[in-house]
Amino acid sequence: MIVCETINELRSIIRKRRRTAPEGIIGFVPTMGYLHEGHASLMRRAKDECGYAAASVFVNPLQFGPNEDFDRYPRNREHDIALAEASGVDLLFMPSLAEMYPEKPLTKVLIGQVSERLCGASRPGHFDGVGLVVGKLFNLVQPDKAYFGMKDAQQVAVIRRMVDDMNFPVEIVPCETVREPDGLAKSSRNVYLNPEERRQAVILYETLEAAGRWMREPGVTASDLTSRIRAKIAEAPLADIDYAELLKYPDLTPPEPGADISRHPKELIVALAVKFGRTRLIDNRVFGSAGR
Ligand code: PAJ
Repeated sequence: MIVCETINELRSIIRKRRRTAPEGIIGFVPTMGYLHEGHASLMRRAKDECGYAAASVFVNPLQFGPNEDFDRYPRNREHDIALAEASGVDLLFMPSLAEMYPEKPLTKVLIGQVSERLCGASRPGHFDGVGLVVGKLFNLVQPDKAYFGMKDAQQVAVIRRMVDDMNFPVEIVPCETVREPDGLAKSSRNVYLNPEERRQAVILYETLEAAGRWMREPGVTASDLTSRIRAKIAEAPLADIDYAELLKYPDLTPPEPGADISRHPKELIVALAVKFGRTRLIDNRVFGSAGR
């Protein structure tokens, strides 16, 4: 595995790869590091499907709000290098802040509608920062396929729209969420949880499981479901709900009020963001169309 830190070096490695393997394709996994099994599963899939896997580790300040955890976001360079290598990554890009943003970018990447609700509403500007950095990384790496986790289902919807709207020549591949044995979605932020918060955090997974059962009940409406979902989360005394919503996926607009959800013809997402102490966790599940 090659580790590189500059844009010049990255570009020359990618050019060389294209020259020496003209038939080969390049898979890409962008991350913010502190890598875990969720990231590793994306990297293994990229290597498996493309034969050549590039990945990046860059904690992107533009996607953090002023009162968020940019400064204390966990970082571990040696661990990230080891895990990327063990997951089959051929090229790991780890740029510094100055390399990525020698100047404050003046360009805005604003992906409307799909970025407005959920994390876009509770973290204003978050998806503008994600769009900008992912657009930059796509221009640098020029991958054929890019792998994103469905744990961040809204991010997948936002990036897909950006790629479609801007004709980036890359296929977005959504990947299943990797979980702890009790169901908690793996996340770099799980390390912030104290033991009691960690025990209670499983409520997100349990709520998604229960929501799947409730959605099959004939006649169930969106407002019924949302109140049951909120009540379920409240069973964990330390849980502080940021949002708990039922929306159509991937457009992320609400289903018609009063509609029978068990017969809804579109894919629906139950999306949750819940704080435990200072730690905000997200999780979601996408449910297929009617007959779910
Ligand atoms: P980060 O949170 O590091 O996540 C990198 C990728 O790993 C994302 O596509 C995310 O959905 C995926 N991922 C995280 N946890 C996962 C899990 N438990 N199972 C499967 N996949 C998981 O998402 C970002 O970084 C950033 O916003 C980024 C796209 C890199 C732009 O800065």
